[in-house]
Amino acid sequence: MHLFKVYPLYEITPTYAKGCFVYDKNGKKYLDLYGGHAVISIGHSHPKYVKSINNQLNKIGFYSNFIINDLQGKAAKKIKESSNCNDYELFMCNSGAEANENSLQLASFHTKKSRIIAFRNSFHGRSNAALSATDFKKIKSEMNKQINVTFLEFNDHEGLKKEMSKNDVSSIIFESVQGVGGLDEPTTDFVRLMSELCKKHNACLIADEVQSGFGRTGDFFAFQKHGIEPDIIPMAKGMGNGFPVGGVLINKRIKSKYSMLGTTFGGNHLACSAVISVIDTINEEKLLNNCKELEIYFKDKMKNISEIKLIKGRGLMLGLEFDFDASKLRENLIYKHGIFTGGSSKKNILRILPPLNIKKSHINILYDALEKELE
Ligand SMILES: Cc1ncc(COP(=O)(O)O)c(C=O)c1O
Repeated sequence: MHLFKVYPLYEITPTYAKGCFVYDKNGKKYLDLYGGHAVISIGHSHPKYVKSINNQLNKIGFYSNFIINDLQGKAAKKIKESSNCNDYELFMCNSGAEANENSLQLASFHTKKSRIIAFRNSFHGRSNAALSATDFKKIKSEMNKQINVTFLEFNDHEGLKKEMSKNDVSSIIFESVQGVGGLDEPTTDFVRLMSELCKKHNACLIADEVQSGFGRTGDFFAFQKHGIEPDIIPMAKGMGNGFPVGGVLINKRIKSKYSMLGTTFGGNHLACSAVISVIDTINEEKLLNNCKELEIYFKDKMKNISEIKLIKGRGLMLGLEFDFDASKLRENLIYKHGIFTGGSSKKNILRILPPLNIKKSHINILYDALEKELE
């Protein structure tokens, strides 16, 4: 049987990975500045992570959500302590799309309304509501037109006021730093306006932290820079360092009811043990500080390359903007220099999403390769 071809693949088969490096079946070493799409937060096969999941597997790997799993409570406590999001409750699921789908669904339950406001170049995942709120035409089907979504530009204050004044909006969903869309950010004024208008018009503010959360931007959550308190915070990627896990933080103002949400696999014992070891490692290794320090180093270093027109993003969620299509450059970095980087829906942007414990020396390797490629 053939595989259903939905991915244009690079001809590399990794069989081993450690820290910031991935090794293919021929033993060739690659520097991972992509983190498998912002997923690898504490580094590949981190010993603490491996030990935690192994130990758990030897005890109990899975049971369903109709009996108590006290590891979920432990994960919730650790997320609260590390993020300072004190007035929230946790629902666990399996992926970013699911986290967003549950968030949009919850907002609709809570407000008894259905229209969604989303933003140009957004990406929220591939389940129906999440995809409906995503702004990429070529990945959307007829079915996704059933959900009522209005797309606005970031920082369109008047447009937002006008739409919210209709009083039929259930949620506003936004990325504090757009991932797939190419690292654009709304201003603090605009984020605060969204927050105010949601309160005024009984709508939920959903801060999609699927990619930017769990320390990736140097804050535990990227929205925290703006001093707001979203109603709902979906998260995934870095949360499990590769173990498929997602979650939603739900402000206590939104009251739970039995059967409102549910999942078979979400929050299973193995997923919780992954999350717990990720948070412990982020704290013990002070990875938020590393993220902030390396952002400064990265930006200082890369500004010496004149072909780079703009350096976008925060922490270790970064982008290099060129005035040409960067696809070939990305390919050359892989095959000629053994460096993984990420693309974006904007073809002139190269994304850098490494494990949060990379060192300056890893950035130097990218710098030297870029100099060679662009000279
Ligand atoms: C901001 C954001 N939200 C949601 C998703 C969807 O996550 P998943 O692929 O785990 O469903 C992504 C994936 O790239 C994302 O970047």
